[in-house]
Amino acid sequence: MFIRLENITKTYGKKDGKVEALKGITMDLKEGEMVAVMGKSGSGKSTLLNILGGLTMPTSGQYFFKGQDMALLKQKQMSKFRQKSVGFVVQYFALIDDMDVYHNIALALRHSGISGKESRRRIMEAAESLGISEKLKSFPDELSGGQKQRVAIARAIVKDSDMIAADEPTGALDSQTAEELMKVFRDINEKGKTMLIVTHDMEIAKKCDRIIEISDGQLSGENI
Ligand SMILES: Nc1ncnc2c1ncn2[C@@H]1O[C@H](COP(=O)(O)OP(=O)(O)OP(=O)(O)O)[C@@H](O)[C@H]1O
Ligand SMILES: [Mg+2]
Repeated sequence: MFIRLENITKTYGKKDGKVEALKGITMDLKEGEMVAVMGKSGSGKSTLLNILGGLTMPTSGQYFFKGQDMALLKQKQMSKFRQKSVGFVVQYFALIDDMDVYHNIALALRHSGISGKESRRRIMEAAESLGISEKLKSFPDELSGGQKQRVAIARAIVKDSDMIAADEPTGALDSQTAEELMKVFRDINEKGKTMLIVTHDMEIAKKCDRIIEISDGQLSGENI
């Protein structure tokens, strides 16, 4: 199994301020799947993505990535995992305003040990596949929302990670642009990447292979 979560819980804070964001999530993700995650605000979607990306440690339960128990990784291995294994895309793009598109994408390869020449090749290739080759010298504020999100997706795929985790990637976009981006995600998925996409939009979710529903920190619905 590509990813397996066993009874994952996440509690933030202590005593009176305690929030149980995840209350026992057990699920599998197969390699190459494209899965939508739906659920109300505060249900635990981002927490789940952050655990999968190694940005947050679960309070209890086990997370296996390609069979590896993540709790057994040393700090160095964990930061390598974060650097390499999951590419993140978020709602408001998280681009650096005073860097051009090329350098925004290049950020993902910092500390990766990849040579300058290979970095350049990968950045050009990612930009090409997202249709933003003409924009490499532009700055974020010169781009449309859809173009900004394409840059953010290029930044996520340039690492050549196994999985892309997208948290409301179309939330700030109009429906036509959102639909175009879903085609981009599907293209990336067809090249073999496992995709996890958080969305509030049923039309977007329906374009995925299956839908996982979270309600109050637990899986709900069928979640087949
Ligand atoms: N760093 C944190 N510290 C304390 N509580 C947190 C933290 N992050 C999230 N929470 C709480 O955990 C719960 C789940 O939050 P999470 O961000 O995972 O929800 P979500 O489903 O992504 O919501 P949204 O759709 O609004 O983005 C919420 O009650 C939230 O307030
Ligand atoms: Mg969220």
